[in-house]
Amino acid sequence: MANPLFERKPLALLLDEVKGENRLRRVLGPVTLTSLGVGAIIGTGIFVLTGVAAHDKTGPALALSFALAGVACIFAALCYAEFASMVPVAGSAYTYAYATLGELLAWIIGWDLVLEYTVASSAVAHGWSAYFQDLLGSVGVHIPFVLGNTPFDYHPQDGSFPATGAWMDLVSIGITIVITAILVKGIKESASINTAMVVVKLAVVLFVIVAGVAFIDPGNWTPFAPYGYAGFSLFGHTVFGQSTPDGAPLGVLAGAAIMFFAYIGFDSISTHAEEARQPQRNIPIGIIASLVICTVLYIAVSVVLTGMVPYDQIDINAPVADAFRQKGLPWARRLIDVGAITGITSVMLVMMLSQPRILLAMSRDGLLPKGFFAAIHDKFRTPWKSTILTGVFVALLSGFIPLRVLAELTNIGTLFAFVIVCAAVLVMRVKHPEAERPFRAPLVPLVPILGILFCLALMLSLPTENWVRLGVWLAVGFLIYFGYGRRHSVLAELRKSRQR
Ligand code: ALA
Repeated sequence: MANPLFERKPLALLLDEVKGENRLRRVLGPVTLTSLGVGAIIGTGIFVLTGVAAHDKTGPALALSFALAGVACIFAALCYAEFASMVPVAGSAYTYAYATLGELLAWIIGWDLVLEYTVASSAVAHGWSAYFQDLLGSVGVHIPFVLGNTPFDYHPQDGSFPATGAWMDLVSIGITIVITAILVKGIKESASINTAMVVVKLAVVLFVIVAGVAFIDPGNWTPFAPYGYAGFSLFGHTVFGQSTPDGAPLGVLAGAAIMFFAYIGFDSISTHAEEARQPQRNIPIGIIASLVICTVLYIAVSVVLTGMVPYDQIDINAPVADAFRQKGLPWARRLIDVGAITGITSVMLVMMLSQPRILLAMSRDGLLPKGFFAAIHDKFRTPWKSTILTGVFVALLSGFIPLRVLAELTNIGTLFAFVIVCAAVLVMRVKHPEAERPFRAPLVPLVPILGILFCLALMLSLPTENWVRLGVWLAVGFLIYFGYGRRHSVLAELRKSRQR
């Protein structure tokens, strides 16, 4: 008999479930989905982490890091799009893995997606806090230090966590509570608020590009890659490129591993498959369109930013707004603050919208308690209990853990999920060549193989301690699976009833 750990959920069963009771409403079209994608993508990555990456890892070669991370995402996006068109139900990569690679890998990926959505949301909340405090600071209002920062910081040079003297970041906790309340109220309202915010955010990004060009000094682009073009290490041992004294990689590749964060979110579109009209057509359109738009904008912003300010003088908290402050344009700084705050809000909205829907899918399969995670609110038709639970975790993480730690953990978790998705596309093509694929990734097996290789290279270019954190996270996941999910899963129940 086949090993139950690798039992797959039949595609037909998945598609049947969509027709059942207690479903979400189908209200999202291609423009709304692309807008949700852009809403989930452009945020703390471009507005905050560009500063950290240019300053510490890449110098003006930041644009190359963006291009590299963008290429890795496009390979993964093509694989996501193929799956999303085959299995158009909520749950994203988790659902695809269940249908192809079996229950254990599905659990691993679902558990891993918590890193992507919940931990990313808390990293993003930090960006919100940084720009909100910058905006208040520009008009002379200052949140007390103890209430505007995490209690400890992280020094990548020596891996230490020095105390900052602060108590918590109350600003990021506050915005998390507001977003949670909006999401409990409902998807339709959330999607329209999101569309408005995306328009504002795109306008500000375009403003940065167009207005910033006038302030470019080409001399700032030399040296172009002060930390080199590589930055590839194997668990703390530099293979090629430069590194810090304690072995953290430096250079374009290392920058790409950080800036990958800026692209996270495109895959969240697939978690809305159940709420999309014509998901087979519209989900792939949404994923690919939003990724292409963002890649072009990111490269343009990083060329402008590193041209405006010498890389070692780029601010690491609110770098884009600060570049305009340095040029003596306080009004532009405030405009960018408002755009960044708006843009980052929409990222949080989409991420925190996606997480409960993945938990919903996992609980419907019996891997998590249904009574809690599959509870849909009578009036609002939203998975309200898990939305509130997600909000509590995001608030705690963002209030107390520093941005860098959260961003790197998010990246390694998400890259790992992408590797599994690319592998799953290959497995599915071999095992089920006949399955209907309204969207087919081009050049298979080349595209999924390149997706796997690029994502692995980025994982290895992150500081080593992230592998340890990922390992601990997965170990906790195994405990939950073997302690609960394996015994309660719907497939296990079916198996038992067949045996009776
Ligand atoms: N891509 C998202 C951001 O940059 C997570 O904020």
